[in-house]
This record gives sequence, C-alpha cells and structure tokens, in this order.
Amino acid sequence: MSKRRVIIFDTTLRDGEQAPGFSMNTDEKIQLALQLERLGVDVMEAGFPISSPGDFEAVTRVAKVIKNSGVAGLCRANEKDISVGWDALQHAVRPRIHTFIATSDIHLQHKLKKTREEALEIAVKAVKFARNLCDDVEFSAEDAMRSDVDYLCQVVEAVIAAGANTVNLPDTVGYKMPFEIDKVISEVINRVPNVDKARISVHCHNDLGLSVANSLMAVNAGASQIECTINGIGERAGNCSLEEVVMGLTVRKDVFDDIEIGVKTNEIYRASKMLTTITGVGVQPNKAIVGKNAFAHEAGIHQDGMLKNRTTYEIMTPESVGYPSTSLVLGKHSGRHAFVQRIKDLGYEIENDAMQSAFDEFKILADKKKEVFDEDIESIIFNQAKDEQF
Ligand code: KIV
Ligand code: ZN
Repeated sequence: MSKRRVIIFDTTLRDGEQAPGFSMNTDEKIQLALQLERLGVDVMEAGFPISSPGDFEAVTRVAKVIKNSGVAGLCRANEKDISVGWDALQHAVRPRIHTFIATSDIHLQHKLKKTREEALEIAVKAVKFARNLCDDVEFSAEDAMRSDVDYLCQVVEAVIAAGANTVNLPDTVGYKMPFEIDKVISEVINRVPNVDKARISVHCHNDLGLSVANSLMAVNAGASQIECTINGIGERAGNCSLEEVVMGLTVRKDVFDDIEIGVKTNEIYRASKMLTTITGVGVQPNKAIVGKNAFAHEAGIHQDGMLKNRTTYEIMTPESVGYPSTSLVLGKHSGRHAFVQRIKDLGYEIENDAMQSAFDEFKILADKKKEVFDEDIESIIFNQAKDEQF
C-alpha cells in the first residue's frame, strides 16, 4: 500500500513565539531552527517578516541557514506584506510564502469590515501575487472552523485555482469538537472540485484542550499537513503540540497505517528542552511525551509490572523520544571532552574558536559553583553568540 505523507509544519518560531513569555532573540531562534531541522520538520515558519525589524532579520537569517526544511514566513493578504515577506524568504533553499485572511462572518464583520465577496477577491489576488514570486504558496482561511462551510469551499476552490499549493483551515480559537473537524475536512475534500491540486492542512488551537485530537481527526479525514509547535506553545492555551501529534501518529501506526511522516522522534526531547531553556518557561511535570513524569513510575504495582515487562505500563520508550539515559554532572573537574559532548547533547552548534572561549568561560564559572547546570551552559553559548554570527 502506498503511504500518504503528512507534512509536519512547525510554527514555534511564529505562532509559538508571539505568545506572552515566549519571545526569543535572533540567535536563540537560529539555534532552535537548527534543532527543528535536525528533528526533521518538513517546513518551519520562521516568523512574520513585516511585523517588526527583528522578525524580518530572524526570518532572513533562518532562511539563509536552513538547508533541509522548507522555511515559511507569514504575510497578510496584501502586496506590501507579501513583498517584504519575500525579501526575507528568498534566500531559503525551499521558501514558502504563507498568506492569510479571515473567512468567518465574525471576523469579516467585526475585525475586517469586509463582505465575503471582498475577502474572496483579496485572497485570490494575494495568492496570485505570491505565486509570481514563489513556487510554494500556502493560503490560510483564518477562523475557517467557524466559517460558513459553503463559503469556505468557495474560497478553497478559488485560492487553489489562483495557485495555492497548500490550503490551511485553522481552528483559530480552538472551538471545534473532533467529530465536527471530521465533518468540515471531509466536506471540503469531497466538495471542492480541484482539491487534489493542493494539500489540505489543519492548524488547531488548544482552548478546549482538543488541538491534538482535532489534528489527528483531520488527518484521519484526509488532511495532509499538520501545523504545530514544540511543547504546544502559542496564543492563549497554545497550539497543537508537535511532540504529542507526532507520537500519536507514530505509536498508533496500527490505526494510521496509511500515513508516513519524516520526523526523527529521538530529537523531540532535545527540541523541547532547548525551548524551555531559551524561554525560561518549563512544561508541567505530567505533560505528555516531554514532562518530567512522562516516563516515571512510582506506584508499587506499576514498578513491579515494569520490572517484569516494560510494555505493562509503557506505550513508548523514553529512548524513542530522545530522553537522555545518563546524566553526567559538569563541574570544575570536568574536561573539555565532557563539555563539548554536553553542548552537542543539548543540540547546540558552535564554531571551534567560540568553543574554546566557551570552555574558558565554563572553567571560570565551574570554580565558583559546585555544579554547572544546562542553563549555565546555554547562557555561556549565547554569550559567545553576541560576538559571533551563527
Ligand atoms: O490561528 C490562526 O488562524 C493562525 C493563522 C494566521 C494561520 O495562526
Ligand atoms: Zn494560530
């Protein structure tokens, strides 16, 4: 049986980063982008280039440094946004312009003050303009899941005819139940005549705690791109969590037997840890896949079962998501080898010269404290980044 490839589109650096408490500077974004590339995401959304000079710079630098994943930038549906977006993205090996306009009556009436017809025209014009610049164009119908489905089908058909390669249907406010997502995705796939010329994507927010379930339901209904973020960070209650949706598809291959994805699951923990260290915002201990307790077993009966056979209480191994198996303590007696290895284990890449001065800084710090923590090492790395360009 030939498999259906589901694209993992990571938006940690855009939708994730725009949530309160999660902002990152450009050097931090570059390190995270390199880790996302190692993780094997198909596309990473690096930012919203017109939103600020910092975002423009970050998208430009991510576009230059990333070779194996596509790099997307968000643009509203107008020529100015798209031109600026393209200026930043054009350096990428696989650039993608991601343009959007809302399609729900709530957004059209109260936010945009546009009619459905006007929004449709704006969407088509934007996609055509973007396709003249870039071969890979994604269109998002913001608040799609609260939009009238007949109108939504009309928009999807028109933007595909205008050249959109991917059409994303966001549950912008995390409102829908899984069975309703199934209905919308199925209707769009069954009713839009040219739907096979594009990829249908979902982008689910987590306001009712359903973003992962809704994304999996969408894939089951025929969607072939999932938009998600590391640790599920994002606006309000966040976005669909990459680690949860990816492990859902991986652990339950038996029910998703026609699906394939390109993510290297053993890089998940490192990506999660890097994000928490950079932002200073941890995940709750019971967080699925990456929480401190995700693989801990305390109850006697569970421990007994685990000792007899791990599958009694474990549906995936810690190794499969890259949980570190040993924890060597770094201190004043540690050598350069252990220091360099820890930097690699944490997922960072630094140049040889910067490595030497990082090691010197480590030794000075190690003399002052009993143990040098990962957070200390990360701040040493970003101190080097102030002098060097990654
Ligand atoms: O939540 C949303 O609708 C979005 C779009 C801009 C893709 O983030
Ligand atoms: Zn969003």
